[in-house]
Order: sequence, then structure tokens, then C-alpha cells
Amino acid sequence: MLYDKIANPKTYLHSRSLAGLRRPNVRENSRSGVLAKMKYIWMNGKMLRWKEATVHVSSPVVNSGMGVFEGIRAYWSKERSQLYIFRLKEHVQRLFDSSKVHRMKIKFSKKQVEDAIVQTAARNGFREDLYIRPLVFRGGIWRMPETPIDVIVFVVPTPRPERMKRMKRGVRCCISSWRRIPDIAMPARVKTCGNYVNSRIASMEAEEAGYDGAIFLTIDGKVSEGSGANIFLVRKRTLITPGVTSDILEGITRETLLSVGARELGIDVCERDVDRTELYVADEAFLCGTGQEVTPIVSVDGIPIGKGSVGSITKKMQKWFFEVVEGKRAKHMDWLTPVYA
Ligand SMILES: Cc1ncc(COP(=O)(O)O)c(C=O)c1O
Repeated sequence: MLYDKIANPKTYLHSRSLAGLRRPNVRENSRSGVLAKMKYIWMNGKMLRWKEATVHVSSPVVNSGMGVFEGIRAYWSKERSQLYIFRLKEHVQRLFDSSKVHRMKIKFSKKQVEDAIVQTAARNGFREDLYIRPLVFRGGIWRMPETPIDVIVFVVPTPRPERMKRMKRGVRCCISSWRRIPDIAMPARVKTCGNYVNSRIASMEAEEAGYDGAIFLTIDGKVSEGSGANIFLVRKRTLITPGVTSDILEGITRETLLSVGARELGIDVCERDVDRTELYVADEAFLCGTGQEVTPIVSVDGIPIGKGSVGSITKKMQKWFFEVVEGKRAKHMDWLTPVYA
């Protein structure tokens, strides 16, 4: 039955065409486009040219995926002519937590890694939204007596209009035939490179079947999260999200919306186990995370969520989130780190 849904999505999808929503437009990532604009990568304390930042093919990170990373966004504010990194400290803290789980000691302090991130963003000189990727990994070569723990930071521009399309129209998801990695097998709550094999096989399967994205259940059959984002649903005007023991990544956006956003907007929240069928009967649902920001889910397994369009609470959360990241909510300016002096 589950495979039928994945294999024959047309039978299950409602009619509204969302063609073109499935993947971000990667045309601009061609050599002549965005890639050509990315000039510098920070590596182990040095700013290197893009081409110079390399690892050996026999290294543990290449062969066994021994690495941890962060995904951070920086938002360009036209009014202030400034690039703001969102919740830099919290992301760097999670990078260190992920490294700790991996028994990798980072040879830089948190402050030095924060500075490296700001410097890399500034040195590349972008005046547009960025995705920032710090990565800590076991480099070196095969069977070295002591593998070096390398640290790099690179940045990639992420055009806003493309992202806005997804956020305005919403995405159609399916429940993945793959389960979310359980904490008894992989450290699900942190950002281990290897965890993303689980995410990628689920999203590739969903996209091939004609959906925009996948939602994972836990081994116990409860809703966990999206393949690269946390999930919220709305039932009777209460925001509900699976708890941190549901094998989720402990998302910074989730925490921002749950602990602060909802409170400021006067919306009740509840962190608890969520059943699959609750998604089908939810009034609204959305994905949230650095990558997805606040992306409405308009259907699951072809069943429309609510009216099959973007719900009012989701819209309020989106609005609040963008006001915060663009520096329009004065009380949250301490979440934003300016890149340019
Ligand atoms: C698997 C997964 N879950 C959730 C999230 C959301 O986390 P954050 O809000 O910290 O980006 C991400 C990253 O975007 C992720 O990769």
C-alpha cells in the first residue's frame, strides 16, 4: 500500500499543479553562474581560494562519512545594506555538540569558528542571502595513526525569489517508506554527515514519485520530521510538534518558533507524539528549518491539509520569522550577527 502511493502518486495527488516546485532552480549553480562567484573557503585558519580547499580521496570523511556540519543562513537587508547571520552562536554551539558526539576535538574555540564564519561571508563579498556551511571532519589519509580534525567554512548564495515561490504556494509531501534513523543507531539530534544518507534516500524517493518532499516516521511509527526540516501541525488553533525524543534534529528554527514566535503571537503550543493520521486531519502543517525556513505543507500522501492551501497560522509564523531574520523586530536583533563592518 505504502509503495503503491510512492509508485503511483498521480492516483493520490490532488489536482492543483505545483509543477516546478520540486527542486530549487539549480541552473544558476552552473560554473558560469553562482559557482563562479564563490571565491574563498576558510580552511583550518587560512582563507584559501575555492579550488585549493581539498581533501584526499582516502580520508575517513570520504570513505566513512566521518564529519559533522552546520547549515546557517545569512539574510541581506537592503534597507541597512547589511548581511545578517541568523543565530550564529546557537549554530556554532550545535557544531561543537555534534563534534562531541563524534569524539572529534575542534582545535579552534567557538569564538574563532564564529569569526571564521563571519570572515568567510565578508570575504566573498555577497550582497544577497547566503547559505553558510561549516564542516568539521576527519581528514588526512587512510589509516593515519592520528587523523587530523579539519574545519572548513564555505558560503553559497541562495536567490530569494526561488525560495519565496515554495513558501507562498506550499509543498506536497508523502510519508516516506524509509524510517527516520533512531537515536539508538545514529545520533539523530545532531548534524552528522552520515545522517543525511537517510534524508537523501527519502527525498530522492519522494521526488521521483512526484512529491516535493518526504516526511519521516520514527521506528515506532510516530511522526518525526521532514527529510531536512522539522515539522509543525495546527489542530484547533494549537501548534503541535514532535518532541526532541522523536529522533528529530534539534532544530534552531523549531526552537525559535516554538519558544518565542508562538508566544509573541499568542498561539498555544504543544510538544508531543504525533500520529501519521493526525497529519491528514490537521488544519495546517508546515516544515521549518534553515533550508526550508517556514514552508507550508499543502498535502500529505495526496490528502489536502485543511483546505489544501496555506493556513492563517502558518502565514503568521512565516511573517514573524521573516521580520525577525530581516532585522525588523528590534527585540530580536541580538539573534543577528552583521557581516560587514
Ligand atoms: C534533518 C533536519 N531536521 C531539521 C532541520 C532544521 O534545523 P535548523 O532549524 O536548526 O536548521 C534540519 C536543517 O535544516 C535538518 O537537516
